[in-house]
Amino acid sequence: MAKSPKILVLNGPNLNMLGTRQPEIYGRTTLADIEARCHEHGKSLGLRVECAQSNSEGALVDSIQAARRDCVGIVINPGAYSHTSVAILDALLASGLPVIEVHLSNIHQREAFRHKSYVSQAANGVLCGFGAAGYDMALEAMARQLQDEQGT
Ligand code: DQA
Repeated sequence: MAKSPKILVLNGPNLNMLGTRQPEIYGRTTLADIEARCHEHGKSLGLRVECAQSNSEGALVDSIQAARRDCVGIVINPGAYSHTSVAILDALLASGLPVIEVHLSNIHQREAFRHKSYVSQAANGVLCGFGAAGYDMALEAMARQLQDEQGT
């Protein structure tokens, strides 16, 4: 039987601190909980999920480049790099893969510097403000996107 298509779920800086980091903004769900949910929810959608997190911009670029080899899509929460990183935008554009961007918080309700995400330019869609559930929604959006691509 053919292997299910694989999605990279990539988290950026400080997201390893979820659970204890500003819970009034980001909630109490840990990154380990989110990743476990992504594996489970992905499976229910017929997708394999690979999770990675890094605090460093270069490592995130490396993960995106590596995803070109064996992934069919990327779900990314670039954290603060969303608002600064042309390098992550370029890596996503170069990957040629469908991209769904996720933010736990509603970045448009927050400080003005969070309103602009460079990464959004490479994203098929953006989910923000739904907390940890945003990752489930992103996987659902990705599954639809892949179905649309296949014309099914
Ligand atoms: C975030 C929003 C960013 O502005 C912030 O720097 C983060 C988390 C979110 O998930 O809401 O680290 O991406």
